Amino acid sequence: MAASSAGLARRTAGPAAGPVRAVAEVDLAAIERNCARLRAALGDSMLCAVVKADAYGHGAVAVANAALAGGARWLAVATTPEALLLRGAGVREPRILVMGALTHTELGVAVGAGADVVVWNERQVQALAETGPVAAGAAQARVHVKLDTGMGRLGTRDETEAARVADAARDAAGVELAGVMTHFATADDRDDDGFFDAQLEAFEAFAGAIRARHPQVLVHAANSAAVLREPRAHFDMARCGIAVYGMDPFGADPDAHGLTPALGWHSYVAAVKLCRKGQSAGYGRRFVAERDTWLGVLPLGYGDGFRRALSNNADVLIEGRRCGVLGTVSMDNVTVDLGSDPACQRLVGARATVIGDQGSERITAEELARRVHTINYEITCEITARVPRVHMRADTAAPAQQGASAAREVRRRDRAQ
Ligand SMILES: Cc1ncc(COP(=O)(O)O)c(C=O)c1O
Repeated sequence: MAASSAGLARRTAGPAAGPVRAVAEVDLAAIERNCARLRAALGDSMLCAVVKADAYGHGAVAVANAALAGGARWLAVATTPEALLLRGAGVREPRILVMGALTHTELGVAVGAGADVVVWNERQVQALAETGPVAAGAAQARVHVKLDTGMGRLGTRDETEAARVADAARDAAGVELAGVMTHFATADDRDDDGFFDAQLEAFEAFAGAIRARHPQVLVHAANSAAVLREPRAHFDMARCGIAVYGMDPFGADPDAHGLTPALGWHSYVAAVKLCRKGQSAGYGRRFVAERDTWLGVLPLGYGDGFRRALSNNADVLIEGRRCGVLGTVSMDNVTVDLGSDPACQRLVGARATVIGDQGSERITAEELARRVHTINYEITCEITARVPRVHMRADTAAPAQQGASAAREVRRRDRAQ
């Protein structure tokens, strides 16, 4: 396991005693299992684990290492600093693909860090060959030519241009044509009026023609949804993000695809108080008690990524029971319904689960996403930097090296409750 990165160290919990205000526990064994699950679906095709945006909020370095342990052969990120972070943290061996749009300067920096980059015009190839570490003879630029078959973002829509760029990459000194790629716009939508199939067919034809001229080229297109939906989309490699984290690319139940959510998000009951009939809680008095109600106050809010749109519109789990959020979510606090039984006062200090399991109850990122009309990706990406990520293994109950003291603390607290 690699040592901590600057970004992760910043967010790793210290050895505080007592309940943890807010923590995201990431089960690296689940990451490994999800990768193994994807590899089984992929057969001979390679798995590239997409760990951009701090591994969708899960912690890039720890997740990258777990994904590699689970059989991923490549990693992908969006930006040059993300590639540098991985290399700097000791992730040396695997190929890293930087998928995002890069300036000519960034292209050079990425290539200098030993990453592969994406190009779609001849100017980019020329810039790589004529400036930066390639021109200085210090690096070889491995490029992947992107054909835009319908996503309408990066890449060229023109197959002739894409083929010209591939030839230019082959011919330019210090540049290597490593791959050709595309990205699906509607792989997660089975009612897409054939758009996915049309993209796939266009790419199949292009990749076939390119392979005839460049037999060594690596062909890749599929994201998580495409892997689970269509084996024809697997080609030589698939770039999977969301499923690696055990979230469902179709926004439904991860269980349906044998995926295990890796991230649990927890806080605790900091205070319990009675809200008498007619009294209110929170900004704007958006909860007014219709009967005497015990409120639990959790020290978590939109400053942690628990969206304000979840006001009066979410549950948390406390002692295996769903408790509704009451009133407005503040930056640092949220109030939940503990019911009418005064015995709930004993819940001070109890774990409150925002995402995860307690007993037979489960709250998924997909559930939170549906409530606020977004996607699971955004829910975990939005968990903010002030929430420490604790990496652990639920299978062995052993903390990973990363954040070990915090993981121990979390378990100690659980035992105490
Ligand atoms: C180009 C590209 N490939 C692959 C992925 C991974 O997609 P997913 O997380 O749906 O598997 C992404 C993510 O947005 C992407 O931008």
